[in-house]
Amino acid sequence: MKFFVDTAIVSDIVELNDYGLVDGVTTNPSLIAKSGRDFKEVIAEICNTVSGPVSAEVASMDFDTMMAEAGCLSRIAPNVVIKLPLTLDGLKACRKLSDKGIKTNVTLCFAANQALLAAKAGATYISPFIGRLDDLNLDGMDLIREIRAIYDSYDFKTEILAASIRTANHVKEAAKEGADVATIPPAVIKSLANHTLTNKGLDQFAKDWEATGQSIL
Ligand code: E4P
Repeated sequence: MKFFVDTAIVSDIVELNDYGLVDGVTTNPSLIAKSGRDFKEVIAEICNTVSGPVSAEVASMDFDTMMAEAGCLSRIAPNVVIKLPLTLDGLKACRKLSDKGIKTNVTLCFAANQALLAAKAGATYISPFIGRLDDLNLDGMDLIREIRAIYDSYDFKTEILAASIRTANHVKEAAKEGADVATIPPAVIKSLANHTLTNKGLDQFAKDWEATGQSIL
């Protein structure tokens, strides 16, 4: 499973990249607003930091403006992926961009039928939002399972990018259900390494090692 970092905070991306844990990055207008930075400038900086795909989202709702925005974003760097809304205009833009060989990420997917349309439109990635479904007392993981089954039945190449991940458990469940990618907030990625027994074991090893009086170096 590939890990994308779900943030527009460059220092967080740099830190995780140094651990070798970053296969790509996703941003959205809310994350850009949170960064407090210029959109195109921050996308350029992220694209210089990671070699993998970096999703940058269009802001308009109509096809023509979406295409114009996609052109501007694509020119920033070769690893920019155009993030498009799951609307009819967004799907039309997805088809046009895919036909031109431009990578796309169709976002705000909450139903298997929407994912089916995105695959038919040639999307590189489909982003089902797990956490936001869970917020409504639905099970976001059911959606991943349904999309996996449909895509496998028809051999669609669109990759399932599990989004709106809020917990370590979301990551594990999405991996078990066969999501190709998970886009994860930095704090959740770091939390995946935590286990009480790992910490307890290390404390004991440290004490026992100190008692030997030895040094490896
Ligand atoms: C990523 O592509 C999405 O924009 C993001 O995961 C949404 O997460 P949220 O529902 O926690 O805002």
